[in-house]
This record gives sequence, structure tokens and C-alpha cells, in this order.
Amino acid sequence: MTLRLGDTAPDFEAQTTEGPVSFHKWIGDGWAILFSHPKDFTPVCTTELGAVAKLKGELDKRKVKAIGLSVDKLSDHEAWSKDIEETQGAALNYPLIDDSSRKVSGLYDMIHPNADETFTVRSVFVIGPDKKIKLTITYPASTGRNFDEILRVIDSLQLTADYQVATPVNWKDGEDVIIVPTVSDEAAKEKFPKGFKTIKPYLRVTPQPNRN
Ligand code: BEZ
Repeated sequence: MTLRLGDTAPDFEAQTTEGPVSFHKWIGDGWAILFSHPKDFTPVCTTELGAVAKLKGELDKRKVKAIGLSVDKLSDHEAWSKDIEETQGAALNYPLIDDSSRKVSGLYDMIHPNADETFTVRSVFVIGPDKKIKLTITYPASTGRNFDEILRVIDSLQLTADYQVATPVNWKDGEDVIIVPTVSDEAAKEKFPKGFKTIKPYLRVTPQPNRN
């Protein structure tokens, strides 16, 4: 089944390197990144998993939990995690799912047979506290992900969940944002006390409202 933005993220129970996880309960009232990688003991995946471990502080700041997945077994994940710590200088600090049954990869359509019959591609799902899917990205096996971009989108998602704004091209946390067109100028004066600039009637920019 193809999962789309706004769909409820399928719930599941799985064995992980941090014990059994009941996915929706594990997410709790925060956010989650669920990401699949093709295979344990592979070079690109090794760099990715180390990079996510190093982002722990940034993830915690945003109330985001990460969880990885591959179709390899727990015993492989555990042995490989020693290599990740040794080569990337960061130990895994988030769970890795044993999806040797392919249950979760099936629910999330993470195996793309025209790319590879057996292994998961590099899928990313960002899931909100309401358990809805907020972002999906699929990378090929040969390309390591840009997790800074995923954090950037989470900043945008968290901001736009609370304010009637959208974020422009290449926006980064702290930069000006766009007032959504459904907000009238009158309402915008109240909602955005720092003021706004009208470039076109449909393009109005204001300082990021949750920053001083
Ligand atoms: C890797 O993680 O290095 C990798 C995995 C599958 C195919 C190509 C590269």
C-alpha cells in the first residue's frame, strides 16, 4: 500500500536493539523519524547510522525519536553496531528494528522490487504526535541521506503546525517565513505583531513568529 502525507502511520510491534517496540506507544506525544536502510555491514549505511546517533541532541531539542530498520536480524544489528561505534565515533543511541520477517517494510512499502527484490531502499518517514505521516522521502541505496535536510523539514513542520505560515525555498530555522494566503491582511496584523512586508498580495513575509 502506498502511504501518503496525512495518512495514519501503520502501527506495529517489532523486536529492536532496544527491546520490543509497540510503534505508536513508543512515539508517545512527540515526533518520530522511521528510516530503512538496505543492509547491515554496508558502507553507506554505516555512515548514516553514525550520523543519526550524533544528531541525538538536535533530535531531543525537537522532541523527535529516531528508529532505523533493515531486513537483517537482531544478532547482525548488534554485531554491526560495534563497527558503527568504532568507525563513526558514535554508538547507536536509538533502536534498530529487526525486520527479517519483512512485516514493517511491507506495511511501509520499503521494498521496491524494481530497485532491489530483497532489500529495503532508503525510506524516510516523519510522523507527528497525531501519528500522521508528515514527510516521506525515498533515496536509492547508492545515495546516503542528508539528515540535516530532514531536521530542516521538521523545523518547518513544527513551526507551521502552530502558526499560519509556510516556509520559503531553502528556508532555515530563524529566517523569515510566509503568511499563508488564507489569512487576511487584517488578521495578519493581529497574528503577526512583528509586522509583515507585502511583496505581492499573495506573498507576504514576516519574521519567524516563535523567535525573539
Ligand atoms: C551501502 O550502504 O553502502 C549500500 C547498500 C546497498 C547498496 C549499495 C550501497
